[in-house]
Amino acid sequence: MTATTLQTDDRPLTFPPGFVWGAATAAYQIEGAARDDGRGPSIWDTFSRVPGKVAGGHTGDVACDHYHRYREDVRLMAGLGLDAYRFSVAWPRVQPDGSGPVDPRGIGFYDRLVDALLDAGITPYATLYHWDLPQALEDRGGWTSRDTALRFADYTGLVHDRLADRVDTWTTINEPWVAAYLGYGSGVHAPGRTSAADAFRAAHHLLLAHGLAARRLRAGGAERISLTLNLAPIVATGISGASGTSEQDAAAAGLIDAMLNRQFLDPVLRGEYAGPVLDVASRHGGLDHVHGDDLAVIAEPIDSLGINYYNPTYVAAAPGTPPNPVYPGSEGIAFPPAAPPHTAMGWPIVPEGLGDLLIRLSRDYPGVPLVVTENGAAFDDVPDPDGRVRDGARIRYLDAHLRAAHAALTAGADLRGYLVWSFLDNFEWAEGYGKRFGIVYVDYADQRRLPKDSAQWFRDVIARNGLGGEVA
Ligand code: FCB
Repeated sequence: MTATTLQTDDRPLTFPPGFVWGAATAAYQIEGAARDDGRGPSIWDTFSRVPGKVAGGHTGDVACDHYHRYREDVRLMAGLGLDAYRFSVAWPRVQPDGSGPVDPRGIGFYDRLVDALLDAGITPYATLYHWDLPQALEDRGGWTSRDTALRFADYTGLVHDRLADRVDTWTTINEPWVAAYLGYGSGVHAPGRTSAADAFRAAHHLLLAHGLAARRLRAGGAERISLTLNLAPIVATGISGASGTSEQDAAAAGLIDAMLNRQFLDPVLRGEYAGPVLDVASRHGGLDHVHGDDLAVIAEPIDSLGINYYNPTYVAAAPGTPPNPVYPGSEGIAFPPAAPPHTAMGWPIVPEGLGDLLIRLSRDYPGVPLVVTENGAAFDDVPDPDGRVRDGARIRYLDAHLRAAHAALTAGADLRGYLVWSFLDNFEWAEGYGKRFGIVYVDYADQRRLPKDSAQWFRDVIARNGLGGEVA
């Protein structure tokens, strides 16, 4: 999609006072400096070197060189008026082999970043794990090993001790479903394993790691503890994508909803696994990794739930279909392609999905404040000769999603903030640098940053705490 003229909905909308506006990134996707200051290798350093795993053979070695350019980046954030910036801490900088004492050089970077953010009036939101597991821990079993969860709790305590005087808002883990099912199930992400049994074990140990870390943070006096999940409405459709669905389609949607959403929501917010998750897991390697009081640990109360929303998932009953490797138990279920429009990732653009999700969460899991910790879109952005990046399609995308979020708020969803993915164009995992999600364009040849039109638009949204309905 390319934008020629920009048409957003034209009703002005105001968000509640105190609504938090921000942007998000993740360490491996932007920092570069992969060998600086004692940083150890992570599973993404290893995986990105396996031929064919990442488009273009790209790696995060240099990325946006944010490690060296963070001051300039924080200045740009300040220019946009961000209230909050969500970054992740690279475990292999803090503990190069995943255990033992803190490397002062590695944690020093986050010290400086946090100071720069606070000086600029931006609240730091620290995520402790955004997929860059120290390779040394993967060599000892990675997330299929219970010990990794214990190591994560120790690492959490070390980082918290060092930054607690300046950071109040902590997210333990980003998207455990992706880490488990793309990393250990389908193998399209690091570490690239392809075993349903491993994926279930990894998912449980990621949840356990969250619970243990949440307890550690709580004991250390952390003010706001959260977990970020990738969640999506699961929509039953007919096999051709047509509306008009059968009971079988609805059952298929129920199963995929259990696997993607409830597998994480129910243990954390209800202290139990959903029945269908237990059924499927017991057919894929069993449940011996779930120990007696794990669920009580995992259900440690959180102060907010982070939601990463990109698009709904469409499913239909289709007898005879082989299982999709990211959804063990999905034999007989098809995933019909969604109708256009799509982003450059091929992901359908469905803003109402965000509203539906927020309302469902408030209804089914009441009492936990919600923050959209990621939402955004990749488009094929190219700077015009005048140096401007006219990304009207992204503005329309963000505008429409914010309108859906606002409608959910009006309907009673307890939404406290919205962070756009992403602040910068960056290393989009298996897609490499080809997919640009930033509101700030990065020219990888010389590391120049060019705030896109969407960045200017977002600055205005923040300034008025809402949408003006302007046509830019
Ligand atoms: C999410 C990830 C984030 C980014 C976006 C596009 O799943 O958390 O790092 O890749 O998707």
